Amino acid sequence: MLVHSRRRGSFVQPCTLISADKIRQRTNVLAQQISRDYADRPLVVIGVLNGAFVFVADLVRQLTIPVTVDFLRASSYGPETETSGVVQIRKDLDRPVSGKHLLLVEDIIDTGLTASFLCRHLEMAQPLSVRVCALLDKKQRRLVSFDADYVGFEIGNEFVVGYGLDFDEQYRQLADICVLPDVKEPYARD
Ligand code: IMP
Repeated sequence: MLVHSRRRGSFVQPCTLISADKIRQRTNVLAQQISRDYADRPLVVIGVLNGAFVFVADLVRQLTIPVTVDFLRASSYGPETETSGVVQIRKDLDRPVSGKHLLLVEDIIDTGLTASFLCRHLEMAQPLSVRVCALLDKKQRRLVSFDADYVGFEIGNEFVVGYGLDFDEQYRQLADICVLPDVKEPYARD
């Protein structure tokens, strides 16, 4: 699929950072690890909308343990690529999770603000445990200290789209994780 480059005024091929094939292989490894870790503990998988919807769908289908699935929606980003720093819950869980083991599934951890806010939010419901699985991790961009328990890939400063991740709601349907040509430089924060 071609994407529109404002700078060049034409359509260009997005640059693949992580192929669908690599994502599939890594998701399988994560699913095996999670299935082992929760072999005797019923698990609630909590996907963070919208970005994690593709990853959640692929991850749960590779788990070999019984799980239930729920979703949260949080927002900290506006139409641009920088976080506003304020995290808000836009959609909460549909079912109570007190006394349950929870696995929060994120598309990407960037500043760490969203994931740490959501973990605190989940802890308030008095679950048995809360862990986090993130497909992508931009460790260099943390504003708060936060470590996910399961990480697909560590990436650098680039702004990525595809496999559920968007730029202004576009490109979620790309099978690969790609770097957008116009977004890379303005996004870098050093
Ligand atoms: P954080 O609160 O800064 O860690 O941001 C987490 C959220 O920001 C993710 O769930 C994404 O929705 C969004 N985000 C951060 N980096 C990217 C990116 O490179 N592409 C698309 N969305 C991103």
